[in-house]
Amino acid sequence: RDELLEEYLKAAVQVTLEAGQIIREALTSEKRVQTKSSAADLVTETDQLVENLIISTLSNKFPSHRFIGEESVAAGEKCILTDDPTWIIDPIDGTCNFVHGTPVVAVSIGLSVKKELELGVIYSCVEEKLYTGRKGHGAFCNGQKLQASTQTDLSKALILTELGSIRDPVAVKMLFNNMERLLKVPAHGIRIVGSAALDLCHVAAGDVDAFYQFGLHCWDMAAAAVIVGEAGGIMIDTAGGPLDLMSRRVVAAGTLEMAYQIVKELQPVAYERDDST
Ligand code: IPD
Repeated sequence: RDELLEEYLKAAVQVTLEAGQIIREALTSEKRVQTKSSAADLVTETDQLVENLIISTLSNKFPSHRFIGEESVAAGEKCILTDDPTWIIDPIDGTCNFVHGTPVVAVSIGLSVKKELELGVIYSCVEEKLYTGRKGHGAFCNGQKLQASTQTDLSKALILTELGSIRDPVAVKMLFNNMERLLKVPAHGIRIVGSAALDLCHVAAGDVDAFYQFGLHCWDMAAAAVIVGEAGGIMIDTAGGPLDLMSRRVVAAGTLEMAYQIVKELQPVAYERDDST
């Protein structure tokens, strides 16, 4: 089993690097942009091309494996996790950045086996940082071991979040309300970079103390859940329970104390679950 997982990780790294090169080259070219669930939920031909590349490469190597991919789900595929080995793929995390030529974009590939996340690969393609994690074997960035922050005090925290693509005025107000509550603690600061997967890599690397978001998807956090966990951090539900990959919400932090203090401040923003259809 150990050898198999190592083989899966190697295959995921290889295809991630290939995908990253395509994205890097396409970043400054003209794109065909379409919208999905809202006017700010974007997709380009490169998202689709890269997702097809990843799925065809991995399914050639591992024909019995299943796939959950952001653009396949947008095209009508189901988003259901089974006991079978399932690759959970975000071909471009940070598509809005990508559309604008902003160089903060990533490929994210996680693998679940028997509904447990076993490995994760996230590639920040422009800065060429490759984050990898395997359950029980540590998390790394370009081979360097990662260690999450040990900060336990929310009033000393730098926090990342994302606004997502919802533009419904009530939901937008609630997103800002949560930021306001955290700033009034007062946290040191809140930053938004435009890629939830990369935010979570920053938590794993200890670059920031925490991340939270309502409205992200399973493919934004599957790979990262392994990387953050292996870096000594934690990912939990915004209400304080265990992480639910399909729930579209998360709090991640270097310490449980930090995560719980954030949970205490957050007021829920409702999103339809990824596995609701
Ligand atoms: C999105 C990005 C964004 C976050 C959204 C995600 P995508 O992923 O991570 O920062 O706010 O919730 O869905 O659409 O660029 O793959």
